[in-house]
Amino acid sequence: MRQGPAATYQTKHPPGAAPADFATHWGRAELDRLWARGCEFLGVGHAIMGGAMTWVSERRLVAAISNAGGFGVIASGSMTPELLDAEIAATAALTDRPFGVNLITMHPQLLDLIDVCTAHRTGHVVLAGGLPSAAAIQRIRDGGARVVCFAPALVIARKLVRIGANAIVIEGSEAGGHIGPVSTAVLAQEVLPHISEVPVFVAGGIGRGEAILSYLEMGAAGVQLGTRFVCAHESIAHPRFKQAFIRASARDAVLSVQLDARFPVIPVRALANPATERFRAVQREVIDRFNRGELTQKEAQLEIEHFWAGALRRAVIDGDVEAGSLMAGQSVGLVSGEQSTAEIIDELIGQALSVIQGREQRRLGAAPLSASPEGRDAAG
Ligand SMILES: Cc1cc2nc3c(=O)[nH]c(=O)nc-3n(C[C@H](O)[C@H](O)[C@H](O)COP(=O)(O)O)c2cc1C
Repeated sequence: MRQGPAATYQTKHPPGAAPADFATHWGRAELDRLWARGCEFLGVGHAIMGGAMTWVSERRLVAAISNAGGFGVIASGSMTPELLDAEIAATAALTDRPFGVNLITMHPQLLDLIDVCTAHRTGHVVLAGGLPSAAAIQRIRDGGARVVCFAPALVIARKLVRIGANAIVIEGSEAGGHIGPVSTAVLAQEVLPHISEVPVFVAGGIGRGEAILSYLEMGAAGVQLGTRFVCAHESIAHPRFKQAFIRASARDAVLSVQLDARFPVIPVRALANPATERFRAVQREVIDRFNRGELTQKEAQLEIEHFWAGALRRAVIDGDVEAGSLMAGQSVGLVSGEQSTAEIIDELIGQALSVIQGREQRRLGAAPLSASPEGRDAAG
């Protein structure tokens, strides 16, 4: 929950206050100051967006993130307009806090999905999966919502701002799911110093509060996390999907492999499993058939693309962790068990605060803050 606007905190050491109390108080004020723009944009207490994850980010997880003071986002990638309509209504029944909807720009019914968001007076629409058209952005804005777009490079961020994006997400290649080629750290340095017209949220590879703080200090308005929320109690992901996350280390979250430049493979980060190996074999087999003239290039490409159809659902919902797609970011190595969404968010905030408070403590020349509950490293 939001602790109150930063302005209500004292920024000078009050006479008589213990240094530890002051540092705790000051730490909270400093964090609120750093992400004030993101909090205001989203209408929440913590500028932490729950990145939409197809099949995972449905009513329960989305509402839990918003109820914990973050900003939940419904993933509508697998939904028809009717399903999205029901999902927004069901989410609104579980939370009175703001939440958003993620729409995939190449969805064949994009315009109908936008209209569903407008009918529900959705406050924020996140457009993912390719560059959105100016017309789509305008339609969402005309419906009264703010538009958040993904920018994989500075030049694209600038273009998106020009055509009406109200906020930008930069997502680095450490992230789970469909990714771009550039790491979060480099993208942040490329974009954050140059985009000030709209809030910028950083995503990809964030698993701890210290990382959140570092991006805020670089100028981010907030952050977006996906992988870290998969094992929340409120996430409906199958227990076997969650187990795979809990067991995995960062290096297990690998990029999809492309065998032949003539047959592009969409870059997706997921946990390596038997399906990853099978995908290589299928590509080899399809390319051989193409080389023998048994398939046209288009047919071969389609066969390769078809391999992963329905694979995320098989893993997330059915728990088929061998044949399904285990989309996960590298921060999966920081997921060590199931927790409630509120615990995850509190832990992230505690880690960010412990850095700020430690600094302030050193500045005041006092003892470390190990006794402060907010400063404690809940991850142990
Ligand atoms: C299982 C999974 C499914 C995802 N599905 C989507 C999606 O449908 N739409 C989208 O914009 N991003 C999707 N993402 C990306 C997340 O929204 C988020 O940006 C990303 O997970 C952030 O990086 P992190 O995983 O390192 O925290 C997905 C990520 C995962 C792990």
